[in-house]
Amino acid sequence: MWVVVKGWSRAASACIVGRRGVSCSSSCSSSWASTGTGGRRHGSTRSEDAADPPKVLITGGLGQLGVGLAKLLRRRFGKNNVILSDIKKPPKHVFHSGPFIYSDILDHKNLREIVVNNNISWLVHYSAVLSAVGENNLTIGAFGPSSPRDPAPELCVQRPRTIYGVSKYYHHRYGLDFRCLRYPGIISADFQPGGGTTDYAVQIFHAAVKSGHFECNLHSDTRLPMMYIDDCLRATLEMLEAPASALGARTYNINAMSFTPGDLTREIRKALPDLRVTYRVDPLRQAIADSWPMAFEDSAARRDWGWKHDYDLAELVQAMLTHVTPGNRLVHAN
Ligand SMILES: NC(=O)c1ccc[n+]([C@@H]2O[C@H](COP(=O)([O-])OP(=O)(O)OC[C@H]3O[C@@H](n4cnc5c(N)ncnc54)[C@H](O)[C@@H]3O)[C@@H](O)[C@H]2O)c1
Repeated sequence: MWVVVKGWSRAASACIVGRRGVSCSSSCSSSWASTGTGGRRHGSTRSEDAADPPKVLITGGLGQLGVGLAKLLRRRFGKNNVILSDIKKPPKHVFHSGPFIYSDILDHKNLREIVVNNNISWLVHYSAVLSAVGENNLTIGAFGPSSPRDPAPELCVQRPRTIYGVSKYYHHRYGLDFRCLRYPGIISADFQPGGGTTDYAVQIFHAAVKSGHFECNLHSDTRLPMMYIDDCLRATLEMLEAPASALGARTYNINAMSFTPGDLTREIRKALPDLRVTYRVDPLRQAIADSWPMAFEDSAARRDWGWKHDYDLAELVQAMLTHVTPGNRLVHAN
């Protein structure tokens, strides 16, 4: 989810939203605030991008997605214009890759201070406690049991009681430019996730390469929406830069593919035929997975800001097997 604020002085308002973003992180994928200096869509470059880049703060930046997003944004807006933050100590290579500061989003005053002192114009909230760790985290499960699951529509009964409603108020009252992306399960090679319901889809690659055996904690026919990390980060940047006038909504689903552990196993076996997969179902994760959408309906993102995924299952497996090697350095969560 992202939040865009018109003008730096109002960025402090984003902190208020950011603070409540604790519940926001529980229901949405990520959030951020911006002066709205963006406006570039898919490869077209606005001249003011270089002259007046946004100053970005990413909270919860040491998780699966934050470091990759910081890398992408730094390439685009300049190393010093993107600050990573978290409540954990960063690994050395992350600490030396660009600005990093401590920021606890529960500490409203500290967050406000960071926004003001650094002239932050985009606030990206990635801070979260993932689903199987904090069962309250609803990320893609934000829809709840009363919502259609296949596919989960853009608009349906969600009763979010979350940052979305809160930020809508801030949008009308203070001009807060709030944007939210709902991610499916994200799959990346350089980060071992910890605590998400879709973790199996990352772990299976490491197990396949390392030992040739994987024990899956979801049923073989559990279908969930998934996306390769490169698509996820590109979608995030594209939505960040989409002109506000193009956005018919403030919250968008993005989708790429849906598959089951069985589907994934079959695809990996095309490259590693000896892969053995056994199932020991974790009731908590299975219950969460069973309550989640099996697919996302994302036509609004495709229509409004031109979202288009590059990776389907075959490309995903190929990319993962290229990047996951026995010697691959992993960043472990938690
Ligand atoms: N990774 C996925 O598959 C996936 C899927 C759907 C949605 N999402 C959402 O995308 C966002 C980023 O996901 P991720 O996988 O990088 O999450 P992650 O769990 O890997 O990382 C979350 C980070 O938030 C930090 N954090 C926790 N409490 C904090 C606090 N009080 N203040 C500041 N930081 C705090 C943690 O230290 C951690 O580094 C989250 O909102 C998540 O719910 C992720």
